[in-house]
Amino acid sequence: MAHISIAEVKENMILADTLIDRNGCILLNKGTTLTPNHLRILEMRGIAEVPVEKASPDRTDDNCQENPEARSRAESLARLRFCHTDLEHPFMSALFRIAVSRKTIELEQETVPSRNGGETSFPSSTAPPPITITSDKLLDLIKNDVRLPTLLSIYKKINEVIMDPGSSAHTIADVIGKDSSLTARLLKLVNSSFYGFPSKIETLSRAVAIVGTRQLSMLTAGIDIVNSFTHIPSDVIDIKSCWRHNIACGALSRVLAGCKNIENSERIFVGGLLHDIGRLVLYNYAPRQSAYLLAESRSRSRLLDSYEQEMLGYTHAFLGGLLLKRWKLPLSLESMVMNHHRPDPSQYHLETAIVHVADIIVNALEIGSSGESLVPPLDPEAWKRIDLPTAALPSAIDQMECQVDEVLQFFISGI
Ligand SMILES: [Fe+2]
Ligand SMILES: [Fe+2]
Repeated sequence: MAHISIAEVKENMILADTLIDRNGCILLNKGTTLTPNHLRILEMRGIAEVPVEKASPDRTDDNCQENPEARSRAESLARLRFCHTDLEHPFMSALFRIAVSRKTIELEQETVPSRNGGETSFPSSTAPPPITITSDKLLDLIKNDVRLPTLLSIYKKINEVIMDPGSSAHTIADVIGKDSSLTARLLKLVNSSFYGFPSKIETLSRAVAIVGTRQLSMLTAGIDIVNSFTHIPSDVIDIKSCWRHNIACGALSRVLAGCKNIENSERIFVGGLLHDIGRLVLYNYAPRQSAYLLAESRSRSRLLDSYEQEMLGYTHAFLGGLLLKRWKLPLSLESMVMNHHRPDPSQYHLETAIVHVADIIVNALEIGSSGESLVPPLDPEAWKRIDLPTAALPSAIDQMECQVDEVLQFFISGI
């Protein structure tokens, strides 16, 4: 292993050790083969020296040429998926190029399974028309669901403790510690690449002290909700792929929030994590209607949320927002979920705009799927509000991808 200066680092070199930034966050894992995007991340993060092994022997300029057939097929497939977007917009155009490049590589390596966990086999569109089911009826079904008796009880207790001026990190850790499964997940999460702390965090009270009480209470709510919605019938949707999409959206929202120096980025992570919770409610409590909507929207090349509005009279985003309101979660979370497809200017516009853009990116790159087969259109005002150069996209995507699979394991067990 040799440490070389950033000026000498080249594409295809292999990291001999995990790279950690000044804040103690993991940037890239040991063994990563450096790409131009990685080099950009290192420059942006002010990394001076990099531990490298050697250049990857099988990724030289000579054998990295694209297969034109795969490229052309990737572009045709991407055009179909981007049919509801404005490719003249600089962000959408940059995202389209990234999506085509990634799809080309995927097609060239045809034995490699799709990143979204495989094509979800939607039932045929010959299913009977959906029976009307109101959003209130769905929320009542959740309220009376005996499988969710303790949902958010720890989150509520944590918040009560936070409000008490006499409470300490130990008191909060005591509350969380009553749930051993939650404790194990939280400790794994704070010791993962999601935080990238240089030393191991062994106890909950230390995690509370380092991560912060409000941040930990948000993560607790997110973990609790995720684990209450993991038993969706597999003939309706691939639940693992669905949570991969949600976790990728949450992780990318957190990365974008970091680029904007937003504090409490865990709240935005949880906003992204729960943005399609309304879809899970539909899959869980109205599987027949959901199967019909999925099949029909796909066969007609319609965006799922506009088809939901037409057939049900409301969208999954509206339903998810109502659910968070009933659960008395913070208004900012409710806004991120309810408005993630249409981020109207509001008090929480920047946070909602971030989740909106992150969702578009993970849909475009097919990182999991919560049922939508097309790339949702961009609200140009939301992109303007975020105000990031499109050149920052590849590094933001790389950072998110470093975290997704690890975080998925911690959030979801047994599926
Ligand atoms: Fe959505
Ligand atoms: Fe989504």
